[in-house]
Amino acid sequence: MTERHTPRVVPLIDQRSSSFPLPPAAFSERTQLSANGLLADTRGRPLRDLRISVTDRCNFRCNYCMPKEIFDKDYQYLPHKALLSFEEITRLARVFVAHGVQKIRLTGGEPLLRKNIELLIEQLSQLRTVEGLPLDLTLTTNGSLLARKAASLKAAGLQRVTVSLDGLDDAVFRSMNDVDFPVADVLEGIEAAQAAGLGSIKINMVVKRGTNEQEILPMVRRFKGTGVVLRFIEYMDVGATNGWRMNEVMPSAEVVALIHAQMPLVQLDPSNVGETAERWGFADANGQHDKTQGEIGVISSVTQAFCGDCNRARLSTEGKLYLCLFASQGYDLRSLIRAEATDADLTSAVGHIWQGRTDRYSELRSALAPDASTGGRRVEMSYIGG
Ligand code: GTP
Ligand code: 5AD
Ligand code: SF4
Ligand code: SF4
Repeated sequence: MTERHTPRVVPLIDQRSSSFPLPPAAFSERTQLSANGLLADTRGRPLRDLRISVTDRCNFRCNYCMPKEIFDKDYQYLPHKALLSFEEITRLARVFVAHGVQKIRLTGGEPLLRKNIELLIEQLSQLRTVEGLPLDLTLTTNGSLLARKAASLKAAGLQRVTVSLDGLDDAVFRSMNDVDFPVADVLEGIEAAQAAGLGSIKINMVVKRGTNEQEILPMVRRFKGTGVVLRFIEYMDVGATNGWRMNEVMPSAEVVALIHAQMPLVQLDPSNVGETAERWGFADANGQHDKTQGEIGVISSVTQAFCGDCNRARLSTEGKLYLCLFASQGYDLRSLIRAEATDADLTSAVGHIWQGRTDRYSELRSALAPDASTGGRRVEMSYIGG
């Protein structure tokens, strides 16, 4: 049932070097924007969530994200000097926070591969939202280095982690990460994170029909009642190399029905506006949510687009601002910083860029045709951050 190598890998068209021009109005005294936390895009969506990719490298080769055939020994990762430094990241993060960002997620690639990531976390944990509150500071990891790093991440000020885990069966897991990494080590990492107080932990499982759907129920049984929130993600046509096909997407409605037949579920209200996941709680004998058993989530970006409230911005490894996970180009903020822009210039540029935002890729894709993907010139998720 598991697939080891897919023949449908698509050659990479490198989109990393092209960028949109920065909006000239940002730099004119007359139209310069300052931050008041009330920024909104053309569809009235605020800016609340910033995802920062700290490295484009990963020690896994998940077929849906970094297929081995493309990300091989000849693949040109970014050189160290192209990466934003921790000081540059923190400076930009401060600008985004002034515009209303409340949550920062560090991603990659695999963020724990970035040397001394704890130093960046220390700096970011000092920032305060417009309301004067600490940020929701979190990180998405494949868990391979978590057993080693959980305690130092917590000590640096990280509040929680999300771990990607696509199955419990060792053979399935090894084949999906495609580097033969054992599942036991990731499970150990999750336990270390719990022990370090990095709660509440979320686990993301990408479901690929024909590859790991048989892992859904064992995963639910394993994490039910443990305080961990397991979320099932529809396999997306993100990037341009994974050879996405609609027939490999298992719609969330099917995932919920499968679980509900064994362990009854009740739908829960969203905990935040613009949330990616739809929440389902385990029901007690009276059909009420049994909080001791916790909840699961489903993320349906293919069958039920959630662009309407999308408040997420992405900062790529080399400092480009992307307004959508499916964008083909970003705005080069690194060039501004390295050209000695003032904080006022940076604030104005981010404000103008967000005000001009129109992106809603998933909604447009579903309006096209259920199985349509525009393929082609999108940046890879390992570069832009998940
Ligand atoms: P929590 O605050 O922990 O609930 O975070 P989250 O759900 O916002 O973030 P997470 O990074 O865990 O997102 C889970 C998955 O949802 C990602 O790995 C992506 O597959 C998908 N996803 C996240 N953000 C977006 C988005 O803006 N658009 C789309 N289409 N998918 C997204
Ligand atoms: N579809 C859905 N989710 C994906 N991720 C990476 N590639 C894809 C894809 N094609 C998710 C992984 C991980 C996060 C970094 O991004 O589940 O949790
Ligand atoms: Fe690495 Fe995560 Fe991509 Fe897998 S999904 S290759 S673990 S960045
Ligand atoms: Fe946001 Fe783009 Fe995802 Fe829609 S497809 S939710 S606009 S990132």
